[in-house]
Amino acid sequence: MMSPLTTIVSLSYLVSAACYVIGLHMMRTPKTARNGNRLSAVGMLLAVIMTFIVVLVKHETSMTGWIIMLVGLVIGVAYGAVKARTVQMTDMPQLVSLFNAVGGGAAAAIGIYDYLTQPTGSHLALAFSLPVILDLLIGCVTFSGSLIATGKLSGKISGKPITFPGAKLLNGIVIIVMLASIVLTVGFPTAPWILIMTIVAGLVFGLLMAMPIGGADMPVVVSLLNAFTGLAVAMAGFVIDNQVLIIAGALVGAAGTILTLQMAAAMNRSVANILAGGFGTGDFGATAADDVPVNVKETTADDIGVQLAYAKNVMIVPGYGLAAAQAQHEVAELAKLLTDNGINVNYAIHPVAGRMPGHMNVLLAEVNVPYDQMKQLEEANAMFENTDVSLVIGANDVTNPAARKPNTAITGMPILDVDKSKSIVIIKRSMSTGYAGIQNELFSNDKSAMFFSDAKKGLQEIVAATKEYLEQ
Ligand code: TAP
Repeated sequence: MMSPLTTIVSLSYLVSAACYVIGLHMMRTPKTARNGNRLSAVGMLLAVIMTFIVVLVKHETSMTGWIIMLVGLVIGVAYGAVKARTVQMTDMPQLVSLFNAVGGGAAAAIGIYDYLTQPTGSHLALAFSLPVILDLLIGCVTFSGSLIATGKLSGKISGKPITFPGAKLLNGIVIIVMLASIVLTVGFPTAPWILIMTIVAGLVFGLLMAMPIGGADMPVVVSLLNAFTGLAVAMAGFVIDNQVLIIAGALVGAAGTILTLQMAAAMNRSVANILAGGFGTGDFGATAADDVPVNVKETTADDIGVQLAYAKNVMIVPGYGLAAAQAQHEVAELAKLLTDNGINVNYAIHPVAGRMPGHMNVLLAEVNVPYDQMKQLEEANAMFENTDVSLVIGANDVTNPAARKPNTAITGMPILDVDKSKSIVIIKRSMSTGYAGIQNELFSNDKSAMFFSDAKKGLQEIVAATKEYLEQ
């Protein structure tokens, strides 16, 4: 018969799991995403509290164990709370990546502890050995891979693909060692050297996996490592027989996998192609200089002010440059100025604009842009024909008609049909390419005019100019 404590704990874990599932569901739309996040956090808090109660009531740990747990808790809560409050939106991918490293490392630590506490030379049951070895391997791969990803995204390690002669051979050897460690753990008596071999192979594989990937591809890899963290955590749940860990891990694993596939699809590339590395050097200066369009018209803030003041329908097309310039306040100010004067303003949001999923939604939500003005790809594309002025701000690849042609770096990627609008204004600093490293024909379109400026400064000038014309 179940003890009252076991019943209470199991029910609490069930409530926690329900909070994660409902919370995740609420994260599907920006309107409910914040509350979804809160609900999931409440579920996690409940699970942590219940775990402490179990450890306390069952006397499962020593004084040293308590000290380690409490010190870990204080450091973790303090770091997490401060970082989450102060992080810049553009630095979010590296924070998520750091959290992945911590999650993978924690799962691996559980595997290490549980392996070490088995008597040396004992045969492990399959139901224990298989989750332990998967937990160890996936946890170690995620730990080292995510640390490299964090370093690359934050610029502490070169964002360029890092390769070296013999990397493929080393990769092959490491994969063989990892397979051998699975066989040894599942089929042979326990031995400390098997554990050490497994940990080293996992850590080296994580390094080899993340190093050849270009900095701009890192968000997809971070999402994949996020899925790995979930799997490692679920395996850790099997190892210590904790249902809430299994459920939370499975949810993270599934969500991370779906996100990875969606990001790859929106970039029209396969995950395997991304992992093969060597693409996406666009962050590191202009390439393909020979292709720079020649027929490019320049415009001024004053001209743009006139166009906007006399427009009926304006579409704002934000991209990575808007985030990099932190110009969301200025864009919201301009949109408010126009709507206050009876001009229709909408935002065309491409699913992979920026550098992380939902980047533009988050940025615009931060400055309280009404959700009904944020138009997703299909909806926005249906509106361009009736748009008087499209204001492309720091966006490049997501507007590039080269996607409609064969054999380009972005062939087949769905794009925003900005070229269908009556007039196009592009705000960026130079003729540099975007992430994909190719020039954009939109810039030399007859209807296009370039305003070369940092997005923040440029928008401030446009707001000032537009005000003057609206007041006339
Ligand atoms: P990009 O094509 O990368 O272009 C951004 C443009 O912003 C650049 O051409 C740059 O030109 C301009 N820019 C940079 N800083 C600026 C500033 N301070 N002020 C004004 N402009 C500035 O961006 P996009 O159109 O948003 O497309 C995103 C790309 O990233 C896609 O290729 C996508 O596949 C890829 N990607 C996206 C994700 C996710 S999930 N969002 C993940 C990985 C990769 P200048 O230097 O001339 O100013």
